[in-house]
Amino acid sequence: MKFFLDTANLEEIRTVHRWGILDGITTNPTLVSREGMDYRTVVREIASVTSGPISVETTSDKADEMILQGKEYVTWAPNVVVKVPATPDGIMAGAALVREGIRINVTLTFSVNQALLAAKVGAYFVSPFLGRLDDIGQDGMQVVRDAVQIFRTYGFTTQVLASSLRHPLHVTQAALAGAHIATIPFKVVEQLFKHPLTDLGQERFLTDWRKLQSELERRTTKV
Ligand code: E4P
Repeated sequence: MKFFLDTANLEEIRTVHRWGILDGITTNPTLVSREGMDYRTVVREIASVTSGPISVETTSDKADEMILQGKEYVTWAPNVVVKVPATPDGIMAGAALVREGIRINVTLTFSVNQALLAAKVGAYFVSPFLGRLDDIGQDGMQVVRDAVQIFRTYGFTTQVLASSLRHPLHVTQAALAGAHIATIPFKVVEQLFKHPLTDLGQERFLTDWRKLQSELERRTTKV
């Protein structure tokens, strides 16, 4: 399973890139608005860090405007994937962009039928929003499981990008469900490393190692 970072923050992107686990980025208008920069500048900066796919979201509800935006976005960097919503206009715009050879990510997907629509127009990614479904008492992960199974049955090449992940268990469950990719907030990526026994074990190993070093040093100075 690939790991994307769900952020437009460059420090977070650089950090996860340095950790060697960054496969791509997803952004959205909310994430970009937190950075106080224009979308193009943000995307070009991100592209200087990673060559993995960068999802860039359209900001209109009209198909013709989404198509124009998508065509512009792909001039910003070669690894841009255009995000369109799972609405009739979004799917229509997505289909037109796919016909032009542009990769699309169908976002704001909350049902398996929306995922199926994305696959039918040849989306590169489809993004089921798990956390937001969980928030309203529905099983977000079931959309991922069903989409993975249906895509396999029909040979759709659309990749399931598990989105709106809120905690490490979501990452595990997305992997078990067969999601091709999980897009993860920085805070949750940090949590993936955490285990009290790792910290305790590392502390003990280092303490014992230091003890041995000083013992050896003491013996050498004695001789
Ligand atoms: C995915 O592409 C979205 O940016 C994201 O996962 C939305 O997550 P949220 O529900 O935490 O805003």
